[in-house]
Amino acid sequence: MISVVVPTYNEQDNLPVLVEKIFSALGDHPGEVVVVDDNSPDGTGEIAEKLKSRYPVQVIHREGKLGLATAVMAGFQSAKGEILCVIDADLSHDPALLPEMIKALDAADLAIGSRYIKGGGMKGWPKYREFGSRFAILLSRPLTSIHDATSGYFCFRRKVMDGVRLDPLGFKIGLEIFVKGNYSRFVELPYIFQDRQSGKSKLNKKEIFNYLKHLLKLYSWKLNHLHSFDKKSISRQNKPQS
Ligand code: GDD
Ligand code: MN
Repeated sequence: MISVVVPTYNEQDNLPVLVEKIFSALGDHPGEVVVVDDNSPDGTGEIAEKLKSRYPVQVIHREGKLGLATAVMAGFQSAKGEILCVIDADLSHDPALLPEMIKALDAADLAIGSRYIKGGGMKGWPKYREFGSRFAILLSRPLTSIHDATSGYFCFRRKVMDGVRLDPLGFKIGLEIFVKGNYSRFVELPYIFQDRQSGKSKLNKKEIFNYLKHLLKLYSWKLNHLHSFDKKSISRQNKPQS
């Protein structure tokens, strides 16, 4: 079973469209959506509740805006699936990629939607945002060889979290898992990030500062766990070993 965790804050127009697209992408795969809403003032929480009558959806309501990364962690705790996926609610991540990500988990433990490999990219982003994103990723290079280390779109086998103490700060639950996770192979799959059509981004100065603090915590963790450096990409080296 596949659990797709969707963190929401003011996504009233986007959530119903997204949920419909997720289930149509999953097709025959047994799956559920776990919405984690932080008491959105626009009523996204109630809209999520209504979706329960039509789809296998769980809704977790938190008391206020407690942050994206911890919202996703709360989703993992309630999720029933052996495969866990994370996707933004604002349709920036195309759910049509889900079957490919899930298939990739036959050969790897972690599959990441990537803007920064051949075939990937972003649509509708001003140059300064792309520059900021590339710079943010550059700062993560000492931590992981994943090209889109700040991706918010990924799937993994639950065992990747076994024995791992996740302690994220701010936005980047993905980076936390990519760095600390218990996996030896990952796959990056290209996708085009679509800028949101409805609602506003919650990425602000505070979240950028949180990202820098998060990086410092992860650098320090990495220094204490240098042995976990053997994670391999199988994205482009599927050749059998001779
Ligand atoms: N529950 C909850 N609480 N959800 C939140 C919060 C929060 O405090 N903040 C944001 N979200 C939800 C949004 O409603 C959306 O579904 C998702 O998290 C991403 O938030 P956006 O505001 O749309 O972020 P972004 O588009 O600037 O950045 C996203 O895309 C990047 C590229 O993949 C994030 O997913 C980044 O982590 C990612 O790097
Ligand atoms: Mn977004």
